[in-house]
Amino acid sequence: MLRVAVLISGRGSNLQSLIDACRQEGFPARIVGVISNRADAGGLQRAADAGIETAVISHRNYADRAAFDAALDAKIRGFDAELVCLAGFMRILTAGFVEDWRDRLINIHPSLLPAYKGLDTQQRALDDGVRISGCTVHFVRPDMDTGPVIIQAAVPVLDNDDAASLTARILAQEHIIYPMAVKLIAEKRVRVQENRAMVDMPPGPEKALISPSTGL
Ligand code: GAR
Repeated sequence: MLRVAVLISGRGSNLQSLIDACRQEGFPARIVGVISNRADAGGLQRAADAGIETAVISHRNYADRAAFDAALDAKIRGFDAELVCLAGFMRILTAGFVEDWRDRLINIHPSLLPAYKGLDTQQRALDDGVRISGCTVHFVRPDMDTGPVIIQAAVPVLDNDDAASLTARILAQEHIIYPMAVKLIAEKRVRVQENRAMVDMPPGPEKALISPSTGL
C-alpha cells in the first residue's frame, strides 16, 4: 500500500475522489494524512469524516516560504508518506521542497498543460475560443504547473459554455484521472525519463476527441 499525503487549500472535491478510490477493495494506496494551509478548508471535514489524520499549517505563521515548506515537509515525513498529492493546494512551493520530493510529488491542474498554466484557466480557454480543454496530472517541478505529464483527460468546449459549465465538465474528469494517476504510481507503472512520464500500460483503442462533434 502506497502511503499518500494530500495537500489542500479548499473544498477538497479531488481529495474526496482519492478518499473514495482508496476505499475500493484492491486499490493499492491509502491516504495517511491531509494537510491544509487554511483552517477553513472544506476538505478537512471530508478527511475527518473518513477517519484520516489532518493538520493545518498556515502559511501566515511562517516568516517565509522556506520556513513554511520546512513545516510541511516535517509533517509529511511524520505521516511517513511516500507520495504527496497536491489537490487544489494554492501555494507555490519552493524549489528546495520540490526537489526533495522529486518524482514523489504530483499535482492536478484544470487545463491541458502546458496550455493555461496558473489561475482562471477555463475563462482564458473560453476567451481564446479553443474547442478542447481538459485536465492534467503531472509530477511537480520548480516552475509553476510544469513537469512530466502522467495522465490527461480532454473535454469539448461547447458554444454555450461559460466558465462555470466548463469548470464542472473538467472537474468531473479530474475526479476520474487523479485516482488513476495514484493507482499507476502505486503499481510502479510510471517511470520518469527526462521530461516525460512513461506509463507501462497496453495501448487502448486509438480514439480522437473531435470538437465540435459534427456527426458527419
Ligand atoms: C481543482 O479544479 C484543481 O484542479 C484546481 O483547483 C481545484 C480544486 O478543487 N487546482 C489548481 O488550479 C492548481 N493550479 P477541489 O478543492 O474541489 O479539489
